[in-house]
Amino acid sequence: MLKEIFKPNPEFAKDALIPSMDAYWKLQNKAIEDYDGFWKDFADEKIEWLAPYDKVLDESDAPFYKWFTNGKLNVSNQCIDRHLETKANQNAIIFEGDKGDVEHITYAQLSQRVNKMANLLKNEFGVKKGDRVVLYMPMIPEAAYAMLACTRLGAIHSIVFGGFSSAALRDRIEDAEAKIVITADGAFRKGKPYMLKNVVDEALTKGAKSIEAVLVVKRNFEEITWKEGRDHAYNDLIDAQSDVCPFEAMDSEDPLFLLYTSGSTGKPKGVLHTTAGYILWAQMTMEWVFDLRKNDVFWCTADVGWITGHTYIVYGPLAAGTTTLMFEGVPTYPDAGRAWKMVQDHNITQFYTAPTAIRLLHKTGEDEPKKYDLSKLRILGTVGEPIDPHAWKWYYETVGNSKCAIVDTYWQTETGGHMISPLPGATAIKPGCATFALPGIIAEVIEEDGTPTPVGEKGLMCITRPWPSMIRNIWGDPERFKKAYFGDCKKEGKAVYFTGDGAMIDEDGYLTITGRTDDVINVSGHRMGTAEVEAAIDEHNAVATVAVVGVPHEIKGEGIFAYIVLKNPEDASEELKVAINKVIKAEIGAIALCDGIAFVPDLPKTRSGKIMRRILRSIVKGEEITQDTSTLEDPSIVAIIEGIVKES
Ligand code: WTA
Repeated sequence: MLKEIFKPNPEFAKDALIPSMDAYWKLQNKAIEDYDGFWKDFADEKIEWLAPYDKVLDESDAPFYKWFTNGKLNVSNQCIDRHLETKANQNAIIFEGDKGDVEHITYAQLSQRVNKMANLLKNEFGVKKGDRVVLYMPMIPEAAYAMLACTRLGAIHSIVFGGFSSAALRDRIEDAEAKIVITADGAFRKGKPYMLKNVVDEALTKGAKSIEAVLVVKRNFEEITWKEGRDHAYNDLIDAQSDVCPFEAMDSEDPLFLLYTSGSTGKPKGVLHTTAGYILWAQMTMEWVFDLRKNDVFWCTADVGWITGHTYIVYGPLAAGTTTLMFEGVPTYPDAGRAWKMVQDHNITQFYTAPTAIRLLHKTGEDEPKKYDLSKLRILGTVGEPIDPHAWKWYYETVGNSKCAIVDTYWQTETGGHMISPLPGATAIKPGCATFALPGIIAEVIEEDGTPTPVGEKGLMCITRPWPSMIRNIWGDPERFKKAYFGDCKKEGKAVYFTGDGAMIDEDGYLTITGRTDDVINVSGHRMGTAEVEAAIDEHNAVATVAVVGVPHEIKGEGIFAYIVLKNPEDASEELKVAINKVIKAEIGAIALCDGIAFVPDLPKTRSGKIMRRILRSIVKGEEITQDTSTLEDPSIVAIIEGIVKES
């Protein structure tokens, strides 16, 4: 780790929203002393309430916390309507297509399009409050219109990342019992069309019987199959809709959206976020962490299929009334300077991406940033995984010209928005370190019983007080919700939220995230449950048992490695590895493909049958085995597996 500490640029700090650590502590101390009062002040200042709430935080049914009870609001009003008086002609969204086509969408235009989309959903398909709407969309503005149209009507969207397979899409539709799918024929990537609609077709032939209609946005105009009566073309229907669609008054705790994410066991879980708390924190973190100012143009490179895309492409930026960039393509096409050219062309002031993208951009175009004028950039952000010193240094020096603050934001699908992050005008940054909990967030590194972990030692990263944008439930599975998040750690006898991550606090109080403590791996900043990948591999007929572990990967951060025991060892072949990856692609999607597969005669199991994954992790990393292997059913298997992995 770089030992150097990077203080905020004084020029920048003097105009920052939170300009010093004193200002930070003033806010945080207020939260510590008067938690409800802290949140009340911001809720009153930031949210346009349609009817007042009666209680800030209701803890009576913990851990099913409720925020701003009985308040009424609407998120599409918060993101659009309330800005119209002052920002009608300001850009809300700037879209750049894969081929370089650019569209500017003002707040007034956004309003028209979202209203039309809401009317279309309501009038043609009967979408109403509480209905689930699945989006399987490329990165085009219609994805944002659809999200906001749902919130306008009070419908609950569930976005499925476009890289997921038809089987994964079907599972998510079925779990949510969604009524309609909004998709596109496809879109463009690296100059070529790719398709999405066929994946939806396939998902619907295999099940997903709740779906009554498929709304298709034509983007690349490639040929697609069409099912009369079920499929409807957005492009043909939208113009006839009125651009006035009154928004529903939603309760603070009405569901806003579902987003499926991987856990350490079983099938993906539908993380439920609700209305007021989520939008409040999306807006506050947007303003604080990215130190928003007038005329900023914010670019988050995530996909709307992930939480980062929800909170920091659509909801946070629009609630805060800024301009957000949406990009259809990939940052390395047509060359490794694409992202920097876009930063220049659109006058980007904050650039927010994942370490995996930084590593890729560094590797493929170390000097590319120097070819462009990046002088408007003030803040660089990272999310999704720890950033290594190499990537950090390049990001800071070459992209940021040693003058931009780097905000290493730590958070999760479940937290809704940032939890731990530097504040660009206040925090002295230690590279690789998420630094401090944001004001209002009580984050502690503790042991299972709540005792604070000593300085410099690894403990459990817990958020010990509820916060407004926290996950409210797992869709249809409250027991799993309680167990998964409130089952591990207690403080003063009370269950507290455990993130699943380990962390360390240093002598200056800085927090460093040390990675997952469970069987979740982080591939290119995306969460992948080993159990899910194992279940997919198990689908192949030749497989008897399988164990999946993470393996360090130069670009992805972590890759996926599978140890497979075959029913018939003689089947082992390179072709079989390809065939197994094909099954993974069909069951989950290309993001879960294995980077390595080893066919082994057996797995290291204890006498009670538990697979010792730690040993498997050490073997694939080429580490010396320090674990006690004497408790294994067959200790000799370790050396055999080591031999096989070395050879492969
Ligand atoms: C990891 C993404 C280190 C962590 C917003 C967490 C990080 C998981 C960081 C959530 C960071 C996220 N430093 N690790 N700055 N940010 N993580 O739900 O393991 O896709 O639990 O949300 O990513 O991933 P998710």
